[in-house]
Amino acid sequence: MATEDCYNLAMSKLLRRMVGEAQYSKFKPLGHRFDYLWWIARGKPVRSPHLLKQMTVAEYGRRYGLRTLVETGTYYGEMVAPMRKHFDRIYSIELDPQLAEISRQRFAGDPSITVLEGDSQVLVPKVVAELTAPALFWLDAGYYGVHPAHGDLSRLLTELRAILSSPVAGHVALMDDARCFIGAENKFTAAQLVAWIEKEFPDRKAEIVRDIFRVTRRESAAGA
Ligand SMILES: C[S@@+](CC[C@H](N)C(=O)[O-])C[C@H]1O[C@@H](n2cnc3c(N)ncnc32)[C@H](O)[C@@H]1O
Repeated sequence: MATEDCYNLAMSKLLRRMVGEAQYSKFKPLGHRFDYLWWIARGKPVRSPHLLKQMTVAEYGRRYGLRTLVETGTYYGEMVAPMRKHFDRIYSIELDPQLAEISRQRFAGDPSITVLEGDSQVLVPKVVAELTAPALFWLDAGYYGVHPAHGDLSRLLTELRAILSSPVAGHVALMDDARCFIGAENKFTAAQLVAWIEKEFPDRKAEIVRDIFRVTRRESAAGA
C-alpha cells in the first residue's frame, strides 16, 4: 500500500473515532465527492478515488445485467451502502470480526444484504456454489497486503478459479489496486496476472483500466 493510502486510512480511522461511526457514514459521501473532484483537478493520477470505483461497479452491473454483487473486503461498508440501489442482492465478506460486526449492524434492516465474516478464499467458493445467476464480484480484500510482500496472491487465484470456472456462465470480476501488482517476492505483475487469467480461462477477457482489473466473458463465448 502506498504512503498516501496509509495516510488516508489512518485519517479515516481517526475521524471515525472522533465523530462516531453513524455520523461518519452520513458525511462520508460528501468526502467521496470532494476526493473525486480533487482527483480530476490533479489530472487523474493512477490511484483512483472511491467514487470512481463505485461508478465502475454500478456501471458493470448495468452493462452485464447483473443483479447480485459479491464483495470481498467489506471494511466499513462504503461500497455496500451506495450499491444498494444498483443490485437486488449483496454479499460482502470481511475477515476482521470487528469490522464485520459494524457492517452487520449497519445493514441489519436490509434483508438484501448479507455480511459474511471469514476468509474470502474460504467464503468466495461457498458463495459461488450458491449462486444460480451470474453475479458481479468486487474483489477488494487487500490481496497485495499493506506491503506488497505481505499479500497472499494464492488467495486471489483460489477465488478467481472459483468464480471463473463456475458452471454459472457470465460472472464478471473487478479487482481494485492493479498498480500494487509490481511483481515483488516472485508474485505476478499486473500484466502477468492478466496473461494468467486469459491463459487459464480462454473464454475470458482481462484488462486494466483506471487501476481496476476487469474480467469479462469474451463476446464470442457470450454469444455461444
Ligand atoms: C481496501 S479494504 C476494502 C474496502 C471496501 N471494499 C470498499 O470498497 O470500501 C480491505 C478489507 O479487506 C479485509 N480483508 C483482508 N484480508 C481478508 C480476507 N482474507 N478475507 C476477507 N477480508 C479480508 C480487510 O480487513 C479490509 O477491511
